[in-house]
Amino acid sequence: MTTSLEWHLVRRPHGEPTDDDFALVETPLPPLAAGQVRVRNTAFSVDPYMRGRMNDAKSYATPYELNAPMHGGAVGIVEEISDAVTDSAGREVHVGDTVLHGFGWRTTVQLSSTWVRVIDTDLAPASAYLGVLGMPGYTAYRGLLQVAEFAPGDTVFVSAAAGAVGSLVGQIARLKGAKRVIGSAGDPEKCAWLTDELGFDAAVDYRAQPIRKGLREAAPDGIDVYFDNVGGDHLEAAIHAMNDFGRAALCGSISGYNATAPTPGPGNLFMITTKRLTLRGFIVGDDESLRGQFEQEVGGWLRDGSIVARETSVAGIEQGIAAFRELMGGGNVGKMIVTL
Ligand SMILES: NC(=O)c1ccc[n+]([C@@H]2O[C@H](COP(=O)([O-])OP(=O)(O)OC[C@H]3O[C@@H](n4cnc5c(N)ncnc54)[C@H](OP(=O)(O)O)[C@@H]3O)[C@@H](O)[C@H]2O)c1
Repeated sequence: MTTSLEWHLVRRPHGEPTDDDFALVETPLPPLAAGQVRVRNTAFSVDPYMRGRMNDAKSYATPYELNAPMHGGAVGIVEEISDAVTDSAGREVHVGDTVLHGFGWRTTVQLSSTWVRVIDTDLAPASAYLGVLGMPGYTAYRGLLQVAEFAPGDTVFVSAAAGAVGSLVGQIARLKGAKRVIGSAGDPEKCAWLTDELGFDAAVDYRAQPIRKGLREAAPDGIDVYFDNVGGDHLEAAIHAMNDFGRAALCGSISGYNATAPTPGPGNLFMITTKRLTLRGFIVGDDESLRGQFEQEVGGWLRDGSIVARETSVAGIEQGIAAFRELMGGGNVGKMIVTL
């Protein structure tokens, strides 16, 4: 009999998640039903938004159920198919194909073939579809170009700049003709990576100095666009640094995801009025209109080496929770994944 090792949420975390909030459970899998495929996962994604799904609170993503496997992006190899089946795009699925789907946090999954998408591993390794070519990549692309209405000549500041989304935002801004790209990150090695390898003009280590001071020095002429992954003091500093008619894409607020009490908002909101700023929240899946353009443009940059897409990978299903906690604490450079 085939079994799957799956991470279950068994208790809702209070503050930072602990090992006792999760259990690794071995589950027997029944024979395949008609229209199904069995996929052996080779990698799954751990993402900051999953922390929100661990709470029992109404949000854009439904809470994880207790004592049930958690979900998230994953890639794997099709091991068995029930009959002639097609993927979400209507393409035939064959044994041996590499597919992308939403049933991570486990070693094996059986699901309708229409819930998987066959991916092109000639273009990039499968795990890239969890990062640069997947959800984080599209978040960076759409957030910068559509939500923040980036224009060539803009000075751009992005927080959590050495992470999956942030590292792409800065590179896309550079490739699209930004005047100056500034990132913030939590240690000197990450900052050096941003300036030396990704082509950022400046990087601020927010642990070494207050972000407001660092940003003022890195952007003496102010910023036109802020891509917010962090919230809190970073958002306040960005509002201070913004030029008149500046735009911010509010993508995430990771500084508050483990908070056990409401976190204070920026103390300078009236500057939104005086500087005529636009601050706009967004969720990646709300608008798919740029998806084709994203795949073509970012796929091209990946192929010709214009864009660097780094991963931090942790091996083994047993390390899933440790990988998630490491991500939340800044232990990743680029996209954090768990390989199986
Ligand atoms: N709106 C959407 O649809 C959407 C989609 C995808 C992601 N997001 C959001 O985008 C953000 C980035 O996601 P990602 O997947 O690319 O993760 P990531 O940046 O790869 O990883 C998270 C990073 O956040 C930083 N961080 C953690 N605590 C922090 C704090 N208190 N202050 C400043 N930085 C902190 C850490 O880097 P340092 O070492 O630099 O601290 C860590 O590496 C998250 O807020 C996420 O929720 C939103």
